Amino acid sequence: MKLRLLFMMLLATRIAFAGSVIPKVESERAESGHFSLTTKSALVYAPEARGVAMYLLEYLPFKQILSSSKAMPGDLLLGINPRMAAEQYRLTIDRHNIRIVGGSYGGLFNGVQTLLQMLPPEVYGKRARLPLEVACCDILDAPAYNYRGFMLDVARTWIPADRVKRYIDLLAYHKFNKLHFHLTDDEGWRIELKSHPEFATIGGFRGGDSPVHPRYAKFDEKWGGYYTQEQLRDIVAYAAARNIEVIPEIDMPGHSKALGAIHPDILCNYTPDTSTTNGLDIRNVWCAAKPSNYALIEDIIRELSTIFTSEYIHIGGDEVSMSQWRKCPDCQRLKEEKGLKNEAQIEDYFIAEVTNILAKYGKKPAVWNEGIEGGLLPKTTRVYGWQSIKKCREATNAGYPTIVMPGQYFYMDMKQSPYEEGHNWAAIFDAKQTLSFDLAKQGMSQSEIAKVAGIEASFFSEIYIANNPESNDYLDYMLFPRLCSVAEIAWCGERKRSWEEFYKVLTTNHYDRMCNMGIAFRLQTPRVEYADGTLSATVDDGSTLYYKDERTGRTSRYTKPLTCSDSRHIVFRSQYGTAHSRWAGSNEYHKMLTPPVVVTTSMPVSQRSPLENVAKYTNATARTTRAAHKGDWIEYRFTKPLSCQEIIAQTGHIHLRRNLLLSGYVEVSYDGKCFERTAELVDGGAVLRPTKPLHALRIVATDRSDA
Ligand code: ACM
Ligand code: ZN
Repeated sequence: MKLRLLFMMLLATRIAFAGSVIPKVESERAESGHFSLTTKSALVYAPEARGVAMYLLEYLPFKQILSSSKAMPGDLLLGINPRMAAEQYRLTIDRHNIRIVGGSYGGLFNGVQTLLQMLPPEVYGKRARLPLEVACCDILDAPAYNYRGFMLDVARTWIPADRVKRYIDLLAYHKFNKLHFHLTDDEGWRIELKSHPEFATIGGFRGGDSPVHPRYAKFDEKWGGYYTQEQLRDIVAYAAARNIEVIPEIDMPGHSKALGAIHPDILCNYTPDTSTTNGLDIRNVWCAAKPSNYALIEDIIRELSTIFTSEYIHIGGDEVSMSQWRKCPDCQRLKEEKGLKNEAQIEDYFIAEVTNILAKYGKKPAVWNEGIEGGLLPKTTRVYGWQSIKKCREATNAGYPTIVMPGQYFYMDMKQSPYEEGHNWAAIFDAKQTLSFDLAKQGMSQSEIAKVAGIEASFFSEIYIANNPESNDYLDYMLFPRLCSVAEIAWCGERKRSWEEFYKVLTTNHYDRMCNMGIAFRLQTPRVEYADGTLSATVDDGSTLYYKDERTGRTSRYTKPLTCSDSRHIVFRSQYGTAHSRWAGSNEYHKMLTPPVVVTTSMPVSQRSPLENVAKYTNATARTTRAAHKGDWIEYRFTKPLSCQEIIAQTGHIHLRRNLLLSGYVEVSYDGKCFERTAELVDGGAVLRPTKPLHALRIVATDRSDA
């Protein structure tokens, strides 16, 4: 009897219920009992469901597979019922069978994703063994939005095809159905074109001797890649098998610096004034007045339309520097001839011309929200509202099918807390903040909400303050679990869970799934407290805590509060399988110091950006009027000896990573007289951990900074 009870308990812990599925299912009736999937079970599929059956076979080791509409007891049956809504599905599990029926291939695929989440998490590692138990239930589920998207920027940071496929898998597990593929930008062109091979062979590689300039790191290394047409077709097919449509984006007429570097003739006909831009030619906009440009765009679209099956091609339209059209005599003549009121209407003209080309190849345009500002574009244009919820409302009210993705909730390149990697120009937010996004609370009326066409998250990859921005780990950490929140919003709409309910499912069930999916996701930051000589840390998600003493570099498992007289050297981090949190310290640890300092240099200094700017600790920068030569230095002398854990010495423009001192070192003085060399510059910067109070610090160049 005892043994039997133990067996029942073990079984119970293996069975996940529909309530644990992310995103939440619409309606479920839990029934008593369970179904056993055994080595005798057959995978039985209707002919139209063959693709889904083959997909499922990758995760479950069926011995028998057959095409039929009839199942025997013990079998799993896949079918399609066109009377259901396309993406709707019904998943019925009784003691005899599992049946999944979808309104289309996509609906059935969604049902299979729900089933996978109800199985032990090992299915995601493709390590599940039969028999498997699954709880009886009857689920009827459908998405709130037919567009549930994610935008991946592979232009700024090159991501090879196999990694793109991995993200397609991860999106599919969360019932996303669109991959918005940002394939071109100022820093790269990633598509092989047979008619213009140089776009990819030159534009795919930035840095080193390439005319395409890098935006971050690897400045002296030529680096990148592009997708062959064969690889792109493979990605499209791989995604389609996973119910994901790939929408390519060619970002025009702005964001085209890479192309302009290869073909300067696409740019406007004026000589740029580079004196105000530190010698950099920032022109990145296609001239709207050159007929040859539209011929070139037709070449691009002709080839794209043979690769991508989506009826849409995203043609950009964001952040166009209108000043370039203002300075261009040809664009000004065009404006006059066509009776265009302003430069925004020049953009309308450009997009309308491109729309005509798209129509020739059976495609429709999609644009970022600025694309409609001229007011002339046809209402068939799909609009992506990224700048604000106000822009999304303007687009929906003007009658455009609108994808909602304001940066404050959906830009996954933003930091998740103030001390983490990422940008912060839109906001600093975590998965909780993303889940809180609510169209009604953002001021949208019910009729406006009804016009929203979809939800999208994005990852723009112009990354400059990250240790290893090209790694899976970096991207995983930025995306998950925030993308789980996006999945919940996009699938459930107004019936999404509260954060408390969602977080419970996330930590209790979905953490294990994500570990088996191989995602290096982010854990919530440990809460660290220091009082009366006791330093303690807590987490609320079942993860394991570690602490590190930064003086010794030693890391230990945290089991109980630590007694210490100074909390400023200890940091905590939690881990769970493939996931980790950031390192976190007490409030004292994170205090930013602004000690009085006198700055001097061996170089001549700009009167407009004097050295005193540095001593004020504002965003204002100091600038020298020439590049550094070998032996040049900048010195920071503290008025009082400075005690601190960490100093980040960084040269160059913090946001653009330009003007870096690439070759040099940092030396420090503990007595104000003697200096010792302590760190070499990497990417123009160094992190120091002084062991004693510091009198002064010097950055010294060992080569010309413009060499
Ligand atoms: C964008 O972030 N420029 C669409
Ligand atoms: Zn022009």
